[in-house]
Amino acid sequence: MNKIVIANWKMQLGVDESINLAKEINQWAEKEESLDNKIAICPSFLVIHDLSKFLGDKVALGAQDVFYEKEGAFTGEVSPKDLTEIACKYVILGHSERRAMGETYDIINKKVSAVMEMGMTPIICVGEQLEDRDAGNTDKVLQDQVMQALKDLPNQEFIIAYEPVWAISTSGSGQTITPEIAAEEVDKIKSSIPDNLDNYKIIYGGSVNGGTVADFTKYFEGALVGGASLKLDKFIELIKNA
Ligand code: PGA
Repeated sequence: MNKIVIANWKMQLGVDESINLAKEINQWAEKEESLDNKIAICPSFLVIHDLSKFLGDKVALGAQDVFYEKEGAFTGEVSPKDLTEIACKYVILGHSERRAMGETYDIINKKVSAVMEMGMTPIICVGEQLEDRDAGNTDKVLQDQVMQALKDLPNQEFIIAYEPVWAISTSGSGQTITPEIAAEEVDKIKSSIPDNLDNYKIIYGGSVNGGTVADFTKYFEGALVGGASLKLDKFIELIKNA
C-alpha cells in the first residue's frame, strides 16, 4: 500500500524492447484503478525521450544517472536540465555499478545537488560489499555513503535505496539478504541523514521479486528492482504485491 516500485533497466533491454515493455506497463497501470503503489521506470538514456511521450500519470519516468553541470563542453554527458524538459521525475545516483566504475563521493554529492536544484528526486543507492559485512563494517560504510551524498543540501525530497552490493542479482555472489537483516540498517541509515533533511523515503533493492517484495516492504517504503522488472508479468506481480 502506497509503496514506490522503481524499475532499473540498466543496459539490459534494446531500444524496441524498452519502448514496447514501457507501453505494456503503462497500459496495464492505466487500467488498474485500485493501484495504490507508485511506479517509476528508469530506462537507458537512448529511449528516455521516447518513453516521455507516452507515459501517463500512473508511471513516472526516471534516469539511471545524470551529469552535475547543466550545459557546456562535456562530451558524452547528459544534462539534468534536459531531463526536466522531458518531465523526468527521478534520477538513480551512486548505484554500486557506477561506484565500481569510479564514481566518487564528491561526484555523487554534486549530482544529488544538481538533481535537487532542477526539482527532480534523486534515488541515492547505498550498500556494503560482502567483505564489509563480514568484517563488521556495514554500518560505517553506509554512514559514510549517506553522509557524503547528502552534504550541504536543501531540504528537498530524496530517496535512499539500500542495496547490499552482494545481494544484487547480477553481483555473482548467489546470495540474498533476509528482510529482517536488511531492516536492521533502516535506523542506521536514518541516523546518518543530516537533521535538516526530513523529506525522504528509504527503499530496498537487491534480488527483489514478486514473491519476496512484501517481506521487504514491511520495513521499507518501496523497492528498486533490476531483474524482476524486465518481464511484464513478473513486474506486474511485483507491483501488485509490494
Ligand atoms: P536486481 O537489481 O533486482 O536485479 O538485484 C537491483 C539493482 O541493481 O538496482
